[in-house]
Amino acid sequence: MFSIRTWGRDANIAPIQQPNYGRWPPLHIEKRHCPCQDEKKKKRRRLWTILLVIILIYLLANTTFLNVRVVTMQPSSSSSQQKPPPSSGTSTPTTLSADAQQCLSQFTLNAPANPSSYPCSSCLPVLQGVPESFANTDPQDGQSVQNAIQFCGLKAIFDSADSTGQTALGNGNWVKDIKFCAWSGVSCDGVGLVSAIQLTFPGVPAAIPQEVGSLAGLQNFQVIGNNAVPGGSLPSTFTNITSLATLHLESTGMSALPDGLFSSLKKVTTLALLKNQQFGGALPSSVTQLSLQSLIVNSQPLSAPLTTLLSSTTLQSSLLVLDLSGTGLATPIPPSISAFTSLKELHLDNNNLQPPLPALPTATLQTLSLSNNTALNGAIPAGVCASAALKSCNLHLTGLGGSGTCGSCQF
Ligand SMILES: *[C@@H]1O[C@H](CO)[C@@H](O)[C@H](O)[C@H]1NC(C)=O
Ligand SMILES: *[C@@H]1O[C@H](CO)[C@@H](O)[C@H](O)[C@H]1NC(C)=O
Repeated sequence: MFSIRTWGRDANIAPIQQPNYGRWPPLHIEKRHCPCQDEKKKKRRRLWTILLVIILIYLLANTTFLNVRVVTMQPSSSSSQQKPPPSSGTSTPTTLSADAQQCLSQFTLNAPANPSSYPCSSCLPVLQGVPESFANTDPQDGQSVQNAIQFCGLKAIFDSADSTGQTALGNGNWVKDIKFCAWSGVSCDGVGLVSAIQLTFPGVPAAIPQEVGSLAGLQNFQVIGNNAVPGGSLPSTFTNITSLATLHLESTGMSALPDGLFSSLKKVTTLALLKNQQFGGALPSSVTQLSLQSLIVNSQPLSAPLTTLLSSTTLQSSLLVLDLSGTGLATPIPPSISAFTSLKELHLDNNNLQPPLPALPTATLQTLSLSNNTALNGAIPAGVCASAALKSCNLHLTGLGGSGTCGSCQF
């Protein structure tokens, strides 16, 4: 082996001293040339060539290495990003790829002072590729990886907002720093995952961005818009938020929820859809598989037949609050309503409900509101008037009851 010094000295000489090729002797002479002298020359020439190649490789490797370290990562590098090594049990330490390392140090070193310029578009996919086992190897860097992912999920909401929206969000500290748990409308759980987002116009995005799907700990997502924004549809990545328990969309310009949404989001217990005029009436059929506690569709069309909703045995046992006010209901209330054995509140105001009024789950019902259903007439089921549980009963603008009193009911 060469010592480094000899190597370096030879390397310095190499580019200057041209190998002496001379004039090639005629081919037939070369064949008879003394092999010993020729071999010496050949050996030297080969040595020079090898040295030259080694130097070139060394220089090339150096340049590449420096480039990777110094130059800001280009978005395209994420596509050429090699997959992190598959986690092979807890015993093998997980290391970060060069790109992930770069994204991590940019987040910890540069992002605190300059949060808006953190390259989420290239770093989010890279950091999402870091295996979970990495946090076991290096808990501190693991936490930083998770923080960067959460930061980018939220920053995408900010980036989607128009200038008025960004001003409003900025007033709540959005993307002013990387301490996103303290941004207004954002809550985190005990391990630093974003657990709740509550956005109110004008601090709303133009559309819910794909990156929201990276907020894996999100339990509560609430957006109140201005009927136009946010628009578009829920991003396909929304099905990733499997911890979601509450989805509240109000006064948005969004289109209908994807039909299979709740095949993925099985933990949703509160679904509140209010005044979303672009929804078009359809409710995901998968909603009947949910153990919902609250189902609120209010002041927007509902085309799903009441009989379908109310025949779900899952909903029958789970539902505490049912509010389908102002949804254009124009049928009788199906008798299956009496099978809702946990129901505490029933709101069906501002519809065109038809008689007769069936037996209601009066053992549990505390609030009954059927106001402004002018076609609803006839007798009130005896259980309603005699109920000890019923605290509030609004039958204003209905044809029910006629004369006399009926428990807590107001006519
Ligand atoms: C959603 O989940 C899939 C697989 O479950 C994953 O490949 C993808 O990166 C996730 N997307 C986001 C935005 O988190
Ligand atoms: C009664 O309900 C209808 C919709 O069925 C609505 O258009 C109307 O404004 C409501 N009236 C009152 C007084 O709330």
